[in-house]
Amino acid sequence: MANDHSLRVYDSILGLLCNEENPTPLVRLNKVIPFEHTQVYGKLEWFNPFGAVKDRVAASLIEDAEQRKILEPGKKLVEATSGNTGLGMAMIGNQKGYPLQTPLSQAIPLEKRTVLRFFGADVVELDDTLCPAPGAPEGAIARAHDKAKTDPEFEILDQYANEANPAAHYRTTGPEIWRQTEGKVTHFVAGLGTCGTITGNGRFLKQKQKTIQVLGVYPEEGHDIPGVRSQRQLAQTKLYFPDEYDQQIEVTNRDAYDMCLRLNREESIVAGPSSGMALVGALRLVPDEPGNIVVVIFPDDIFKYASSILRHFPELSPPEVPGTDSSAPSSNDLFLAKLLENLKNPHDSVRVKDLDEELRAAEKPLVVDVRILSDYSEMHVPGSVNIPQDDLAGRAGELPQDRDAPIVMVCNIGRFSKHTVLHLKSMGYRNVRSMKGGLNEWVRKGLPTESTTVAAS
Ligand SMILES: Cc1ncc(COP(=O)(O)O)c(C=O)c1O
Repeated sequence: MANDHSLRVYDSILGLLCNEENPTPLVRLNKVIPFEHTQVYGKLEWFNPFGAVKDRVAASLIEDAEQRKILEPGKKLVEATSGNTGLGMAMIGNQKGYPLQTPLSQAIPLEKRTVLRFFGADVVELDDTLCPAPGAPEGAIARAHDKAKTDPEFEILDQYANEANPAAHYRTTGPEIWRQTEGKVTHFVAGLGTCGTITGNGRFLKQKQKTIQVLGVYPEEGHDIPGVRSQRQLAQTKLYFPDEYDQQIEVTNRDAYDMCLRLNREESIVAGPSSGMALVGALRLVPDEPGNIVVVIFPDDIFKYASSILRHFPELSPPEVPGTDSSAPSSNDLFLAKLLENLKNPHDSVRVKDLDEELRAAEKPLVVDVRILSDYSEMHVPGSVNIPQDDLAGRAGELPQDRDAPIVMVCNIGRFSKHTVLHLKSMGYRNVRSMKGGLNEWVRKGLPTESTTVAAS
């Protein structure tokens, strides 16, 4: 049987990949819209076969690479991803016989990392990307390039630079929107990640009708919205073409998550956090005028984001029932999180400039770098020693005997070093601090670093 969209009968799951004949739904929003005239539609991208807008991109990247003969049976894929591209690639790879390795940040929700492993992907977890490592500003991306360069079995298709990413939208999403709105769309709105969505749709729609407004929405710095990138992070994305977009706007975590909740509760649309963000931006940028028809891309659904929900709405945590095991943060977890937050105080942390001065004095503190060895070898505070966080308990003998000895803990962004400060305090160390902002801040302030050459094995 051939694929038949009217009956929804398919030869294989790949037949469900969306295009003009088989579009994702466009659903009008009715309750969360403050407008009298302007109509706003969400395009529900989780109706793609593997659950996100990125299925289109994964398919396009793989097809393009096959056509260019850089991807052939026996090859493996390596790709940096915030999860969704990886999920699509892993599943298309399963169908076509390309195993996937994906380096990604531990900041990506556990749900996505677990499902990627469930799909068979080799997930390499890094402690960055929403907060990248210094010198390797795109930790996961750099790691993926490195793998492809050093291991001929692996091919990187690089969604951050590959024109096959926007081309997926130029070929499918854009024509779908044009057809679904009967050419009446006036505004197109998307969150900005790799920028494939805005760039590909923008190019197609403007070619159809050059007055269509193409609007980009990005999150605040230090955001917690997987898949999208702050203004600083966008500067490193090769498919970000601001001249092609009419306007851009920043949205806070709080506003994005609040709108995401409203979409679910008031519109009964199971949209995820980046959909909330894009809609907030749309409502701020588009005026209320007769004839306005706005299409906002809703990239994926809320089911992958239980852990993000609990961070932003801790009141939704399940009540603790004695004797039961829950994966939600307990009141104890929240208390411990508060302790870590408290460590930002000026007694338990030190600013990079101050540490730099302390290190010039005769009585200098011992600087302990708690990142993995390869990161430490690449770049570290001069004179610091390396004891990765996971090894601290086993290598306690390398710490000073004297519980009053001054010690400063260092990581990439000052988050994991706080964990290790707490660890040392629990061992009785009275003069232990974390370096604020981590090595990222040290580098940003132009302070010197050292590297260690590790013999190749
Ligand atoms: C959940 C989510 N929202 C938004 C985006 C942004 O899309 P794009 O990468 O095309 O800019 C992505 C991309 O990864 C995503 O996964």
